[in-house]
Amino acid sequence: MRYLNPEHKLTVNCPDSARNTNNTYDILYRYDFRDLGQALCDLYADRDPEAPLEKRRVFIITDTNVAPLYADEVSASVTDHCFRVTKLVLPAGEKYKNTETVNRIYEFLIENKADRSSVILALGGGVIGDMAGFAAATYVRGIDFVQIPTTLLAQADSSIGGKTGVDVGGYKNMAGAFYMPVLVYSNISTVRMLEKRQYLSGLAEVIKHGMILDKEYFEYLRENEEGLAGQDPEFLLDALFRSNEIKKQVVEQDPYEKGLRKLLNFGHTIGHAIEKDSGFTLFHGECVSIGCAGAIRISENRGMITADERKEAVAFLESTGLPVRTAIPSADRILPLIKLDKKNSAGVLSFVLLKGIGNAVTCPDVSSAEITDALDYINSK
Ligand code: GLY
Repeated sequence: MRYLNPEHKLTVNCPDSARNTNNTYDILYRYDFRDLGQALCDLYADRDPEAPLEKRRVFIITDTNVAPLYADEVSASVTDHCFRVTKLVLPAGEKYKNTETVNRIYEFLIENKADRSSVILALGGGVIGDMAGFAAATYVRGIDFVQIPTTLLAQADSSIGGKTGVDVGGYKNMAGAFYMPVLVYSNISTVRMLEKRQYLSGLAEVIKHGMILDKEYFEYLRENEEGLAGQDPEFLLDALFRSNEIKKQVVEQDPYEKGLRKLLNFGHTIGHAIEKDSGFTLFHGECVSIGCAGAIRISENRGMITADERKEAVAFLESTGLPVRTAIPSADRILPLIKLDKKNSAGVLSFVLLKGIGNAVTCPDVSSAEITDALDYINSK
């Protein structure tokens, strides 16, 4: 192992604890769910000896894809340690990531008499993590929640850093809250069960972390195409750890995305617009990969990276099986979607570009002409 520490654990510090129930949280790296119950037990024995896990109600929120695979295992791991575990299985898919589904979660919690000491276990990919996290942030003004990500995308990105929320009117994550989990439990073996497209979607975020902040890690990923292609849990555990370390360093310094954290949106400005335009038929990470190629093109046009760096970076994304191009019907259709993106502020488009691999910068002055050129570059037509 090159990156993973002997504890198989990362601790994320949350500087502004007034907005959270929690000052720090651990990310645990495991190959199964067996340690989850004990980890929760230890967490509450430490945090709140008056209300140990055995006195708390635990609610598993999951979906129809994930429940048959892991719900019983997760439930068994915590059942021995707590008062009662109850499960809600939601329909799977981004199209259900909306306020109606969050209402279903609230109703389920009310029917089952969840109170402020209750704990939500968000078992699933990014959609479940974001929605269950948002419900946790708002139900009786906030209850604890645990992220149990079962996709590489959620393990690498969405389970870390406290972004929770839902889509509104087809616009991604338009309603949400920054709300930290009390624990992230990453069972890396779940990557074995992912379909290739879904796996690659997560890999896009892993590669993105190298591209924006760690050239050496990016090169390490490039040198290990076999480990990446084989969905090998051991290799991925190590790679995921470094990816999470990079994200941890960013969110600790800028939890509410005032500055540094914007760098994590590399590839997302064009990516989100393409994702919406595709009616969510393209996966998030696929769109991020295409968006990275577009942002890399703009970086090259500005002389911030060389043509060789652009070619190598785009070729690496492509070699993993990720798309770097898509059919763009017309720039006129995509540009307004980019300008509407929630990451913009006071009408200023916030674009993340590369000043060399491993060195991302935010650029507020990217013009429509530059974006149109990038859209031409990524247009597969
Ligand atoms: N997914 C980017 C972030 O968490 O800020």
